[in-house]
Parts: sequence; structure tokens; C-alpha cells
Amino acid sequence: MKNKDNLKEQKEKILQGGGEEKIKAQHEKGKLTARERIDKLLDEGSFMEINVFTSHRCTDLGMANKEVPGEGVVTGSGTINGRPVYVFAQDFTAMGGTLGEAHSQKICKIMDLALNNGMPVIGLNDSGGARIQEGVDALTGYGNIFFRNTHASGVIPQISAILGPCAGGAVYSPALMDFVFMVEGVSKMFITGPEVVKAVTAEEVTPEELGGAMTHSQLSGVAHFAYTDEGACLQGIRDLMGYLPLNYLEKPPFQESTDDNNRDVGEISGIVPSDTKKLYDMKEIISVLVDDGVYLEVHPHFATNIITCFARLGGHAVGIVANQPKVKGGVLDIDASDKASRFVRFCDSFNIPLVSLVDVPGYLPGTEQEFGGVIRHGAKLLYAYSEATVPKVTLIARKAYGGAFLAMCSQSLGADLVWAWPGAEIAVMGPEGAANIIYRKAIKEAEEPEKVRQEKVAEYRDFFANPFVAARRGMVHDILEYGETRSRLIYSLDLLSSKNESRPPKKHGNIPL
Ligand code: HXC
Repeated sequence: MKNKDNLKEQKEKILQGGGEEKIKAQHEKGKLTARERIDKLLDEGSFMEINVFTSHRCTDLGMANKEVPGEGVVTGSGTINGRPVYVFAQDFTAMGGTLGEAHSQKICKIMDLALNNGMPVIGLNDSGGARIQEGVDALTGYGNIFFRNTHASGVIPQISAILGPCAGGAVYSPALMDFVFMVEGVSKMFITGPEVVKAVTAEEVTPEELGGAMTHSQLSGVAHFAYTDEGACLQGIRDLMGYLPLNYLEKPPFQESTDDNNRDVGEISGIVPSDTKKLYDMKEIISVLVDDGVYLEVHPHFATNIITCFARLGGHAVGIVANQPKVKGGVLDIDASDKASRFVRFCDSFNIPLVSLVDVPGYLPGTEQEFGGVIRHGAKLLYAYSEATVPKVTLIARKAYGGAFLAMCSQSLGADLVWAWPGAEIAVMGPEGAANIIYRKAIKEAEEPEKVRQEKVAEYRDFFANPFVAARRGMVHDILEYGETRSRLIYSLDLLSSKNESRPPKKHGNIPL
């Protein structure tokens, strides 16, 4: 019986979710329950749950007397390192965490509170999808969530973890959010499952291959972070939050550094080879430059020819975009452009300064790239950097050729300060290619063509493949000694910390998609 006298009992029953057996089954699948997840995600004891008593009003297909504790989703607010967030966690133990009208209303309420109060929203997904019995009401529920995801985009950070099945249209709420976290062996995310795939295309594929954590973090790029267990995943969300402001009106949290701002980083000269054909790991450079060598990589397994990460420089949270010479020579291609553009736009939305580390030979040539629309995708990076009004600091580490030089946050695209190391080569193209084109006739007609070719390559390198031409034109603001780079970057961020730049008023831009 439900009355005011047994309030505690009623609540406790609902807080048990689907009950002992279902919880046991959840644990046997290697999964935590919704409330266990929330406990790990939030600061201890900080969770305040709302809408515990919400229940559905469906009477179709045997639902009239079916109780679904909490409607299959736990919602409320709490803190992460003392900073407020709103959370919803689907409860698979209660009717498979399926989404019906009331379930969706609980999520929408949380999103409205998050949006109206300027606080991040975190969604933990574990659901059988649209509750079949609720038909169009369930579909409408998803629509209402997508609508809010879109409106919240760029206003508050939206973070999503896939901690179970997430299939069909249900995938689009996480896809509309800023970051997707997944766990190997636990997360499954696909538009249609393996059985439908087999029926339609005759392909045989396991759920993990089709929509597991590594598939989406390595191949599709849908997921930004992948972990081997749920605890690490939830800790990953906490770590990410440390770099983010609560909303677009705030600056990201400043964290006083114990690392010396003027630390000499001369060891970098031993990492970057002067021979531009030699490879090196840009992550080593990032580790040396940032506070305490700590950075959080976004998309560490996807489009690894470009690196995107959050870090701190002199306490300032920054978003770093860096070409990775170790992978495909650091070339820009379709996936790298998509990855970097999305990251740049996130940072710009939330006032996170951008530091770009450039060592790029150009955009990748070939039919695969052209037919795939490298023009359209590559344009995103130009657009994203040009649109961004946050402080933009660029360091040209070595190669910066052609359109890719421009795309990697050149002064023309609005970089506030551009630094270069002495070995930088800033030109339309590399010496070999350039000499072959402009001296083609002289080389062809020479008695010793190869000798002349080598001479012309050297000549071009001396004249153009260096940072001095760009420095004379004011495109590079100084050529740095390696050792002073960290202090110069930090000083740049200090100088730009009150930057206020605007763009022409408009409804919204039309980024090439
Ligand atoms: C109603 C559902 C359900 C659903 C699961 N359940 N999915 N009830 N509607 N969509 C119920 C089950 O009946 C069961 O209820 C409980 O949830 C747990 O499900 P199990 O099947 O026992 O769990 P498990 O074996 O772990 O399998 C999980 C599963 C499977 C892989 C998710 O249940 C499944 O394939 N469900 C259907 C998924 C699906 O196709 N959903 C629609 C996607 S399309 P009891 O009472 O026994 O606990 C979609 C459209 C969205 O979502 C469109 C948005 C625009």
C-alpha cells in the first residue's frame, strides 16, 4: 500500500531497481548497476536523486500492472571534485533500462535543469532502446532528448558513457553530445545489431566487432575514450571534467602548477631530428612542454596522425592539436581533419585556449582521399580554426607546407601568436618537390641532371625551407631557442588571457559537413 506512513519503505524498494536477481544478472555480465556507477562517478555522498517515484502510464501489451522501478533510469545531481553536474544513468535491471515516455521525461528534466543552471550533463547509457510497448511515445521521448542535446550543444559540456547496449536511434543522443566514453566487452553501440546486419548484407559480425569500444574508438571515431573496465571509465570522466568549465560563460578551471613555468626544455632539440625525413614522437614533445608532463588524450586510437589532448601550461587548461610525424609523417587526411576540427570547436565553445604544434607535410594525396571528400573534410579544419575566438598559439616545430601550413592555425586563420623553432620549414611544398617543378627544364637539359637537381634542392632549402622568410613577413612572431619554449608558451597564454574577439553577427555559420 502506498501512503505517507511507509514512505521510507517505498523509496527503498524503488532504490533496489529491478531487484536482487536482476542485479545479480547485471554483475554476472561484468557490469555495475546504475546506482553503483553514479557512486563511482560522483564525490562520495554528493548525489541527490530526483523523480524517484515517476512511473509510466502505459496500459498496452501487459503494461497496465507492470511496475518499473524508477522507470528504468536514475536521475539527479551531485559533484565531481566539488563542482556540480547533472547525471542520468539508465538502469538495465529495471525492464532493460528501456526508454518509454516517463523515462524520457526524467532525462529531459535533468537536461532542462542542467541547461537552465549552466551545469554539465553526464549520461550513463545501458538500455534495450525504445520500450516496444510504448511505441510512438517512446520514439517521441528520444526526439525530445535529441532536441535538448542540440540546444545544449556549446552551452554546457555533455558527456556520455556507453555501459551496455545502445542500439538503433538511441545512439544518436550520445552522438550529439561532446564526448563518448566506452568500455571494452561492456559497451555495444550500433544502428542495427549483428542479426539485422546478417539479414540485410549477409555479413557475419560479432556485437563487439560491430559496435564495441575499440571499433568505435579506432575505426569509426564515434567514441573518444575507451577503457578496459567501468571503474577506469568513470574515473576518466572525472579527469576530463577537471579541464572543463561548467558552461560557455565560464573559463576552464585554473590550477596552480608546481612545475616551473620557466623550466628549460632544451632536451627537445634531441627529440626533433633536423632531417625532415626522420620521424619522431610528438607525444614526447607534449610531455616535456606541459605542466608535470600530464595530458589527457582525446581520440587516442583514432586518426593517430594527429593528436588532440587537454593539458595545462602554467596552470592554464589548454587544448593541444599536434601533428604526429610518427604516424603517416603527420599528414592531414579526412579522419585527422574531422578529429581536429571537432576538438577545436569544442575548445572554442568552452573558452579553452588552443595550442597547435605543427609538423605537417600537407594533405594526403590520392583517389581514396579525393573520392572520400578530403576537400570537404579538410575545409572543416580551416573553418574551425578561423571561427575560433579563444586564444590561439601556434608553434611550428618543423615542416609546415602548403594548405596544411595554413590549416594548422596559421596567422591568416587568426592565430594570435606564432612561434617557430630554428629547424622549421615553411613553404608551399618541400624542397624536393619544389625544385623538381620550378627547375624542371634546367634539370632536364643539364649534362648531369641528378647533380643539378641536388644543387637546386639545396638552393631552395637555403632560400625558402626555413622560418626566416615567414618571420620577415611577420607570419612568425619569433624564432625560439628550444629551451625557452615552455616559458614562451605560458607567457603567451598569460598575455592572451583577457582576449576578447568577436565575429560578424549571424544566425549560425555553415561548416562544410
Ligand atoms: C521492451 C525490452 C526491450 C525493448 C529489452 N527489454 N529490450 N522491453 N522493449 N526494446 C526487456 C526484456 O524483455 C527483459 O524484460 C529485460 O528488458 C532485459 O532484457 P533481456 O533480453 O533479458 O536482456 P539481455 O539478454 O541482456 O539482452 C539485452 C538486449 C535485448 C540485447 C538489449 O534485450 C534486445 O535485443 N532487446 C531489443 C533491443 C532493440 O532492438 N531495441 C529497439 C532498438 S530501436 P524482463 O521483464 O524479462 O526483465 C530503438 C529505436 C529508437 O531503440 C529510435 C529513436 C529515434
